[in-house]
Amino acid sequence: MRIATLTSGGDCPGLNAVIRGIVRTANVEFGSTVVGYQDGWAGLMEDKRVQLYDDETIDRILLRGGTILGTGRLHPDKFKAGLDQIKRNLEAAEIDALIPIGGEGTLKGAKWLADNGVPIVGVPKTIDNDVNGTDYTFGFDTAVAVATDAIDRLHTTAESHNRVMIVEVMGRHVGWIALHAGMAGGAHYTVIPEFPFDINEICKKMERRFQMGEKYGIIVVAEGAEPKEGTLQFSEGEEDQFGHRTFTGMGQVIADEVHKRLGQDVRTTVLGHIQRGGTPTAFDRVLATRYGVRAARACHEEQFGKVVALHGERIEMITLQEAVGELKRVPERRYNTAQAVFG
Ligand code: F6P
Repeated sequence: MRIATLTSGGDCPGLNAVIRGIVRTANVEFGSTVVGYQDGWAGLMEDKRVQLYDDETIDRILLRGGTILGTGRLHPDKFKAGLDQIKRNLEAAEIDALIPIGGEGTLKGAKWLADNGVPIVGVPKTIDNDVNGTDYTFGFDTAVAVATDAIDRLHTTAESHNRVMIVEVMGRHVGWIALHAGMAGGAHYTVIPEFPFDINEICKKMERRFQMGEKYGIIVVAEGAEPKEGTLQFSEGEEDQFGHRTFTGMGQVIADEVHKRLGQDVRTTVLGHIQRGGTPTAFDRVLATRYGVRAARACHEEQFGKVVALHGERIEMITLQEAVGELKRVPERRYNTAQAVFG
């Protein structure tokens, strides 16, 4: 069998571990060959591909962040207009199965290709952990570890200076990183996109801390968080060329308001792409490797139109439809638990 893979959308620690898992399993277990398309869907349309072998390079990429294949985003209209070209390229390269590794947007594209007759097995990735139907996506654990380390460090400097520290983390539509890093890092308040925040409540919690003799406060803010309607002015941002909303710094908006109302010294740290770079944690290396192995096996079982997913201890196959049907948001009960230890 001849398998092709590609990585698309924002990069994520663990992508290389998936590629290694696919190549090893395909080469060693099945005697199959693997090619990688470069720079995401665009590379597939432009037929930019490299042969991947179970050699020293592949062996050593396990620990490496980013993706050896490169990644990119493509506007859905451009992608759809390229269907015939994509099919021609796959046919000319004698590809029997395609494994796109990507988040919600990529998997939507993959579903569309599958609906148009391309044999696809998807692998879910994103630090945001928002792909439906899987307990965790790889990259999330690394992002949480990075954000938690940052929060740990902010505790000491915040305390030394009697400051409120705002930490803005990634999370466009969902607050999984903020929720987990906030809890692990002992944040005194965490705001996430799923539940519009009340600035009065945040200020009250901070005020109470200082009244009780505490010297500082830490607030974790997911970049996509928003205030309750009509309570705080902020800029909505714009859409980028891929239809994604750009963020204008909700962390700073909260910082300014806390400073205005409490008169406290406030500082904001935006973690940004630091959360996406660097070497994956052990958990992410294991999950990514298991996804890669399972995806290669699923191709040989002809489980097309499916996506690998983690369910408890097991890697199982779900449909592309289930993976892209909706985003996996933080449920209220999880946010309630987090709220129990705010303040
Ligand atoms: O990978 C998802 C994500 O990390 C979002 O949380 C974030 O808003 C976005 O990527 C930023 O990606 P880029 O800067 O590559 O557009």
